[in-house]
Amino acid sequence: MDMFKEIYELGIIPVVAIDDADNAVPLAKALRDGGLPAAEITFRTAAAEEAIRRITAECPDVLVGAGTVLTKEQCDRAIAAGAKFVVTPGFNPEMIAYIRSTGIPMMPGAATPGEMEQAMSMGLTNIKFFPAEANGGVAKLKALAGPYQAAKWMPTGGVNTKNLNDYLSFDRILCCGGTWIATSADIAEGKWDDITRKCKEAVKTMLGFKLDGIVIYDSSESAKADAKLLCSLFGFEYKETENGVSAGAVSFMKDDCGAKGCIVISTLNGDRAMSYLKRIGAEIDPDIRYDKKGRVSCFGLKNTVAGFEICIETK
Ligand code: 3PG
Repeated sequence: MDMFKEIYELGIIPVVAIDDADNAVPLAKALRDGGLPAAEITFRTAAAEEAIRRITAECPDVLVGAGTVLTKEQCDRAIAAGAKFVVTPGFNPEMIAYIRSTGIPMMPGAATPGEMEQAMSMGLTNIKFFPAEANGGVAKLKALAGPYQAAKWMPTGGVNTKNLNDYLSFDRILCCGGTWIATSADIAEGKWDDITRKCKEAVKTMLGFKLDGIVIYDSSESAKADAKLLCSLFGFEYKETENGVSAGAVSFMKDDCGAKGCIVISTLNGDRAMSYLKRIGAEIDPDIRYDKKGRVSCFGLKNTVAGFEICIETK
């Protein structure tokens, strides 16, 4: 799969500084257990190279990249250790040209229109926006999005679970990055359960799964009576459509697939939801619907619950 598609589908890249390479594999496992099998290991510590090497060798399913790459030598070491992508904090044209020449996927850091233009003139459209909050946050990116139509951003610096969706709800965001999920202190103290919990919390916030409705596969006359009963009991709105009837979020319609009905779950991002559900072992029905921009708008699972199908819709 295209590296940037994978990064987009992950939605969040934990940025980490590891002081002791022995912590690298437990960290990678904690992130994976939390539903975010990815890390940007920053070259702010001497252990970065060895951490990348160990994660590459022992957790091949974790997408590991190198961050804070400031020198050609760090870039070479990161690639030799197995980094799958390289990120720079700022826009140093000489460094960017060098990293590009190696062929590794990269995200240059940029915070101003001039830097964005330079990145794009080099064919680099996936850009780290750093430091994001100190530079005007998502409002600045929305202003930059007009002139720089092809740019996609990874905001990093001041991003956390509270402002995560301010960024992710903007469709030009590739992913968000940040250290809040795995802080240096938590890593040094081996707080793997806390890191896993923070990952899960971030993924839950990002995907925003909510029960959206229940569809009961029944088009008989008694379905109408049942819908009316729900409406009279709870004040739900009764509607008749060409497919059946509904009482608020409970619909009754004909379907001959053999299931009793369908549980409809909404999500904030169908691409990321589908990727996440696959990662945690759900089986995706191949009949996937996409919107005009090619994003997943609706998909179902092969898994059923009490005879009900499960369908996920982007809201
Ligand atoms: C980075 O290197 O990407 C940033 O320092 C991360 O910033 P944060 O600590 O505010 O998440």
